[in-house]
Amino acid sequence: MKNLSLVGFMGSGKSTCAKRLSEILSMETFSTDQIIVSREKRAITEIFETDGEEYFRKIEKQVVKEISLMEGVIIDCGGGVILNPENVENLKNNGIVVYIHSDPEFIYDCIKGSTQRPILNVADPLLKIKELLNYRMPFYQKANYRVDGTKKSIESICDKIVEIYKNERK
Ligand code: S3P
Repeated sequence: MKNLSLVGFMGSGKSTCAKRLSEILSMETFSTDQIIVSREKRAITEIFETDGEEYFRKIEKQVVKEISLMEGVIIDCGGGVILNPENVENLKNNGIVVYIHSDPEFIYDCIKGSTQRPILNVADPLLKIKELLNYRMPFYQKANYRVDGTKKSIESICDKIVEIYKNERK
């Protein structure tokens, strides 16, 4: 059975959708961020602060490689997983990749107040979201499917993803 990978910007609802999809499709979910945190025994912010983004991306790549080899699982990918073409290739080799797209303002509303995302711990997070989303768009577009998450309920996003996944399974 194919894997179902969810990609998208921070705060676009990947983790909440992954949990819901796990119930609907009776598939186990793995979060790249959670695996990194439990392996490193420290928070992502701490990894970034102490060892830098490059170190984080190296571990992330290894984690993606390992989970991609599993079968019939949901993979909740950190927002930057798609930056490395090798990650996208690994995810696609054994399944489909769905990009949940949200507009910057909607993302900002979802993440404001949280300090758990080192990349957005800046003076003007909305501006950073706009710049980064713009830069990352060509990478997100490498996904097999795109689902719009702006102002959509988790239920309606999941309905679309279930439809896509069931069609792929046929
Ligand atoms: C990142 C997204 C985060 C986490 C890390 C870097 C990114 O995951 O992997 O802070 O570069 O977009 P979420 O998308 O789950 O917040």
